[in-house]
Amino acid sequence: KTIKINIDNSIAKVQPNMWGVFFEDINFGADGGIYAELIKNRSFEFAKPLMGWTIQRAKANEGEILIVNRKEANIANPRYVQINTEKGNFGLSNEGFKGIGVKKGVRYDFSVMYRQPVAAIKLRLQLISSDNKIIGEGSLTPEKSGSEWNKQTASFTATETDAKARFVVLFDGKGKIDLDMISLFPGDTWKNRPQGLRKDMVKILADMKPGFIRFPGGCIVEGTDLANRYQWKKTIGPIEERQLLMNRWNVEFAHRPASDYYQSFGLGFFEYFQLAEDIGSDALPILNCGMACQFNTGEVVALDELDPYVQDALDLIEFANGDTNTTWGKKRAELGHPKPFNLKMMGVGNENWGPQYLERLAIFTKAIKAKYPDFKIINSSGTDPEGERFNALNTSLRSTNADFIDEHYYRPADWFLKNAGRYDNYPRNDTKVFVGEYAVHADKSLTGSSKNNWESALASASLMTGLERNADVVQMASYAPLFAHIDAWQWAPDMIWVDNLNCYGTPDYYVQKLFSTNKGTDVIAAKLDGKNIIGQDGLYASAVGDNISKEVIIKISNTTNKAQNINFDLEGKKSLKSKGYVDELASENLNQLNSFENPNAVSPKRNAIVVKNKKLAITLKPYSFNVITIPFT
Ligand code: AHR
Repeated sequence: KTIKINIDNSIAKVQPNMWGVFFEDINFGADGGIYAELIKNRSFEFAKPLMGWTIQRAKANEGEILIVNRKEANIANPRYVQINTEKGNFGLSNEGFKGIGVKKGVRYDFSVMYRQPVAAIKLRLQLISSDNKIIGEGSLTPEKSGSEWNKQTASFTATETDAKARFVVLFDGKGKIDLDMISLFPGDTWKNRPQGLRKDMVKILADMKPGFIRFPGGCIVEGTDLANRYQWKKTIGPIEERQLLMNRWNVEFAHRPASDYYQSFGLGFFEYFQLAEDIGSDALPILNCGMACQFNTGEVVALDELDPYVQDALDLIEFANGDTNTTWGKKRAELGHPKPFNLKMMGVGNENWGPQYLERLAIFTKAIKAKYPDFKIINSSGTDPEGERFNALNTSLRSTNADFIDEHYYRPADWFLKNAGRYDNYPRNDTKVFVGEYAVHADKSLTGSSKNNWESALASASLMTGLERNADVVQMASYAPLFAHIDAWQWAPDMIWVDNLNCYGTPDYYVQKLFSTNKGTDVIAAKLDGKNIIGQDGLYASAVGDNISKEVIIKISNTTNKAQNINFDLEGKKSLKSKGYVDELASENLNQLNSFENPNAVSPKRNAIVVKNKKLAITLKPYSFNVITIPFT
C-alpha cells in the first residue's frame, strides 16, 4: 500500500493547546491524590467528626476528647477537637486516605492550629508502619497560651518506606488544648512548595506537555444538587477558611460503596492556575451554569437568582487576568501572583442540556462577552454523541455562534474506530469542537472495564488521527478521567493509576503523550488511494508538519492482527533528511495492561528509519500505533 503525503500543503493549523488533560477530583484524584496532604479529615468536618481518626489510650478512661462545634462563629471550619489529658500514652491516630505513603529519607512537615489556656502539653508525633514500627518521629511543644488560635510546625525525617503507614499524635503532660487543621505533608512536594502537590503525579502530567488543563471537573462542577456544586471563591485563601464539601463522587457508584470522600479544596482555583502555569498549559476552568447534575436532582436556580453565578464567572476572569488594582486581581496578588494568569477561556456548564441550559447560558454569554468580547466560552452538549438531544442542542448552540461545543463520549472500541471520520464532514463555521471527555469503555456502562488495555488505547489513537486531521474544527481534546487511586476509585478506565507512593501511565497515557508531544503546527493531507485513511485495511492515519521543530510527523495505527508493509510517498519541495525515527506502541495482546509491577508493558519503543528520495518503506506491527518523525531542512 502506498500512502501519499504532500508535505508542503497545510490544510489546517494545529492549535498549540490542542491536546490537553481533564482534571477532576474523582477516584481520589485531588484529596488523597495529587494534593499531598496525608491526614484524612484534618479539621474534623467529615459527616462523622472522627472519621479517619482513632483514639489511642494505654488504659481505659485515660484522657478525654471532645469535638466542639462553633458553627455560628466559623461557618467554613466549625469543628475542632478539645483534648484533656493527665499523662502519657493518650493520643489520636490517623489512618490517612488509604493508608499513609511514607518514604525513607523524606522530611515530613507537621502543622497544627492550637489554643491552650496555659502551656502544659507536648505533642509527640509518630509515623507507624503497617507492621507497627515507628518509622518517623518528632515532637512539637505549643509555645503560646491564651484564648487565641496559633499555628505551629515541626518536621522530622522518615527512616523506612511504607505505603500503608499511619500517623499518631500523643499528648504528654497534664492540661487542656484545642487542636484543628492537624496536617502532615511530605517535604518533597512539587517545586518543594509547602503543603503542595505530589511531585510524581505532577511530573507524569508535565511529561505530557498538555496544551491545557480542564478543571475542576466533571460532575463535581454541577454537584448532585446546587448546594453541593463547586464554588471557586470558597477554594482560595488560607486553607482553614476553605469550606469542606462532601465530594459528589462520595456515592455508591458502579457497585462501589460510598466511601469517606470529601473535598478539602487544598487544591483550589489558585493552585489549579499555578499548576497550569508550572507545566506550560492553558487553564480551562468549567463553571456551574446554575444547574445541578441532570443525571441526579437536575435542580436549577431560578432565573432571577442567577446573578451570583454569572458574577462568579466575571470575577474569575478578573481574578485570573485583572490588574492588581481590581478587587479580584488584588486578591490574586495577595496570594502571591501579581502577574496575570492570562486566562483565555472557560466552560459554562458540564453535561447540561435542555431549554433551561440554553436560557442560562445565554445570560452568562451576554454578560461575559459584554465585558470581555474576545474571551472564549465553551458550551456543553452532553454525553450522547449521536442522540437526538445532542443533535438538537448542537443545532441550537451553533445557531447562537457558540465559540466551542464540548462533546463527551464514553463508548466501546468499535464505536471509536467507526467514528474516526466523525469530523470529516462537520460544519466548518465559526463554532469549534472541544472533545472535553472521551475514553473507550468496553460496553456502554460507565465502568465497562476497570482498567484500560491496549485495545482501548489503540482505538483512542485511531479516533485521534481523525481529530488531528480535522484540527480546523476540533481545536481541543482531553481524555477522561485522568487519575485514579488503586484503592479508592469510583470510575474506570482512567489514564493514570496511583497508589500512595507511585503512579503509572496506562497504554492510553502513552497514546495521549505521543499526540501532545508531537502535535505539529500544520495538518497535511495523508491519503490512501486518494482517500482519508479511516479504516481501510484496518489503518487509521493523519499527518502534521511542524514548522518550528522542522519535522514531518505521521501518525498511523494498524488495528489488524497482521503486520502491514506501507510505503510513504512524500511529495513537496521541502528537503527531507534521510534519518528519522518511529515511536512504536505495540502489543499482540489486545488485553495487555500496564500495572505497578509492569508499568511499561505497553510503552513507546523508538527505532531508526531511513528516507530515500522522499520515500519511506515501513512495516507496521500487528496492533500497533506508530508516530513517524522525519526532519527536514
Ligand atoms: O469523567 C467522569 C465523569 O464523566 C465526569 O465527571 C462527567 O462530566 C462525565 O459524565
